[in-house]
Amino acid sequence: MIMSESIIKFTRGVPPPESFPTQELIECSSNVLTKHSSVVLQYGPSGGFPPLRNLIANQCDVEDNRVILGQGSLQLVDFLARIILNPGDLAYVENPSYDRTVTLLRRAGANIIGFTLGQNGYDIHEVESRLKKGDRPKIFYSIPDFQNPSGVVIPLETRQRLVELAQAYGFWIMEDTPYRRLRYTGQEIPTMFDLAPDRVIRMSSYSKLISPGLRVGYVVAPPAVAGRLLKYAEDTYINCSYFNQAIVYDYIERGWLEKNISRLKNLYEPRLNTILKCLNQEMAQFGVWHKPKGGFFVGLMLNQEVKADELLAGAHKEGLVLSDGRGFFVNGGGDQFVRLPFCALTPDEIQEGINRLAKVVRSLHTN
Ligand SMILES: Cc1ncc(COP(=O)(O)O)c(C=O)c1O
Repeated sequence: MIMSESIIKFTRGVPPPESFPTQELIECSSNVLTKHSSVVLQYGPSGGFPPLRNLIANQCDVEDNRVILGQGSLQLVDFLARIILNPGDLAYVENPSYDRTVTLLRRAGANIIGFTLGQNGYDIHEVESRLKKGDRPKIFYSIPDFQNPSGVVIPLETRQRLVELAQAYGFWIMEDTPYRRLRYTGQEIPTMFDLAPDRVIRMSSYSKLISPGLRVGYVVAPPAVAGRLLKYAEDTYINCSYFNQAIVYDYIERGWLEKNISRLKNLYEPRLNTILKCLNQEMAQFGVWHKPKGGFFVGLMLNQEVKADELLAGAHKEGLVLSDGRGFFVNGGGDQFVRLPFCALTPDEIQEGINRLAKVVRSLHTN
């Protein structure tokens, strides 16, 4: 099929098949079964494969029992929501935020307050005045590095102040960092966990760095939370797959993770540059977007009143699949928001996709 006839999907932020290090993972799997079969084929404690817990604990400078490996990081978000939140409790999030976490927080009964994200993060003074007013959350869920869905990075001063507020008002910061290592240019900013390891529950995963199919993610939590999480996890599934966790460990031990991250950056950076160039050429008069230096997403905000249903239907007619922007917004709105994941499309597909998007938006404009 030629490109102009194929369907282009700007939907979920998944890595492309060409990013998977399949041959290396075959080697790691075989090595793990040869060396550790009695451990990885057996049940085990719910925290996960001890060498990988130890490796992450050393990276974060904490005791091993503060690290819990999970079924991706998303199930750990679910467990945390269930052990920390009671129905009716408040949770703060960035607005827009990751739609699946918003669903999990709602499922745990939370009332959610969102803080509007601009190009430079959210307004920390707004957070402070909410707290002063008496709206006390149990958690603030943040994706500070190349946020899903906007691509925004939260500046250091905001991180510092949020940590101070969390300490003063006694809420947990859930810091979700799956895109942090995928910085294509510019300088890393300290994590909130670096700033306050006893106030911040940090989570991340190997989904975007090796493969999401392995479903290996982790949480680094303060001891009181970690203990409850371990028990909750054990009661739910006994343990997650030690086999997959041992494959990840073996892969890292061979020095392949760092090499793979470099390879991924080389694959994704041109895709980011392409989408920014195409947006500039095609969409400048129709909206605004953040220009991220990493991650998977560019969040586009259209500057005209459109209905999401019309936008999605118009896109469908042009062979373009978009996510419904409303799903990322917690207090309503989002009709004009388009999340553009760029890593799983080739530069040619990105170019064609943005051309089609511009055509759809132009036609809605003139209607
Ligand atoms: C912010 C964020 N958190 C968590 C996840 C889920 O990751 P995992 O595969 O580790 O469950 C994603 C996946 O897209 C994500 O964007």
